Amino acid sequence: MASAGGAGFGGLADLEAAAGRKANPAAWAYVQGGAGDESSLRANRRAFDRWTLRPRALADIAVIDPTTSLLGTSVTAPFYVAPTAYHGELDRAGEVGTARAAAAAGVLAMFSTLSTRSLEEIGAAVPRGPRWFQIYLQPDFRATRRLVERAEAAGFGALVLTVDLPVLANRDRQAEGGFAFDGTTPMGNGPDLVLPPRGPVRDGLLFRIPGAEAYTWRVLDDLRSITRLPVVVKGILTDEDARRSVDCGARAVVVSNHGGRQLDGAPAGLDVLPEVVAEVGSRAEVYLDGGVRRGRDILIALGLGARAVGLGRPILWGLAAGGEAGVSRVIELLRMELATVMALSGRARVDAIDRTLVAAAPSTE
Ligand SMILES: Cc1cc2nc3c(=O)[nH]c(=O)nc-3n(C[C@H](O)[C@H](O)[C@H](O)COP(=O)(O)O)c2cc1C
Repeated sequence: MASAGGAGFGGLADLEAAAGRKANPAAWAYVQGGAGDESSLRANRRAFDRWTLRPRALADIAVIDPTTSLLGTSVTAPFYVAPTAYHGELDRAGEVGTARAAAAAGVLAMFSTLSTRSLEEIGAAVPRGPRWFQIYLQPDFRATRRLVERAEAAGFGALVLTVDLPVLANRDRQAEGGFAFDGTTPMGNGPDLVLPPRGPVRDGLLFRIPGAEAYTWRVLDDLRSITRLPVVVKGILTDEDARRSVDCGARAVVVSNHGGRQLDGAPAGLDVLPEVVAEVGSRAEVYLDGGVRRGRDILIALGLGARAVGLGRPILWGLAAGGEAGVSRVIELLRMELATVMALSGRARVDAIDRTLVAAAPSTE
């Protein structure tokens, strides 16, 4: 395997392969799989091929600056660690390893409600690292409130409310791989948190979600009334919901189909990014995740108006392959690739990556 420094891995594909060899098969099925027939998972990668880049020549690229800010927080790159559950299934250090790697690189990291390490442990490990806390609404809003209070006390800078998981999807690959939410994975934020298997149970001709409150957009008001932190809404796939989020006070939205893990048949986030940017881009920051694997992908998303992109599985590949050093390697790979494609396209600064950089690819049909 080619060695390029860091944890001693070559490209991201090498890291993915190394992670697949090291991770236990059930955890690997959980990481890699999507919902149903995985059409939305595949769509995430394909979406990038519908765009080409329009490079500009002789644009003074002597200094390439990939830094930016996200809701006022300075970061060294326009990409961030997307929130993913159960890092402890892949490496003993769990989220603490991920947090250290992200903080050392100066990139933003979002941590899941379903972390294996507590938000206090993460906060203590990286007191100055830019970090946001992802919220899964708990059936009882008082439990959500306790999480919010803990996130504030532990120095998290924003709340990311994930709205695309009212119930867990049918995840065939995960189920076939034998990964079960059976309570054996440590829940860093407390054993009382509701686990995702919550799903419809039959009630006559209807189905009910046991113990669930009927949450509507009003929950954003409830959330904002109990925190001074900015609220980000994650899992938006329509301009209507983007507008609704911002009307309800969200400072940013994440256009995402949850890595193809929730509604199979949902579009790739990239396919709806332009309409969301057109709808709310002047009032809120717009982020994109799903299938981002290359510097090119970052350029396309930023060219279409995203302020930053999230990395889900790639970070987990780094963690599984090489722990904290593996995550550092993934971040460094992406950063180098981004600098290279910024240079090749004649965009030396992030704010020079605009709509004139991207064009629809010629149809191949
Ligand atoms: C194993 C795994 C666990 C995830 N857990 C969460 C989670 O706890 N909360 C959340 O909001 N999103 C979760 N996601 C979705 C990611 O935040 C992100 O939307 C997605 O992974 C991006 O796609 P990518 O994996 O192709 O980069 C998870 C994704 C994966 C792969």
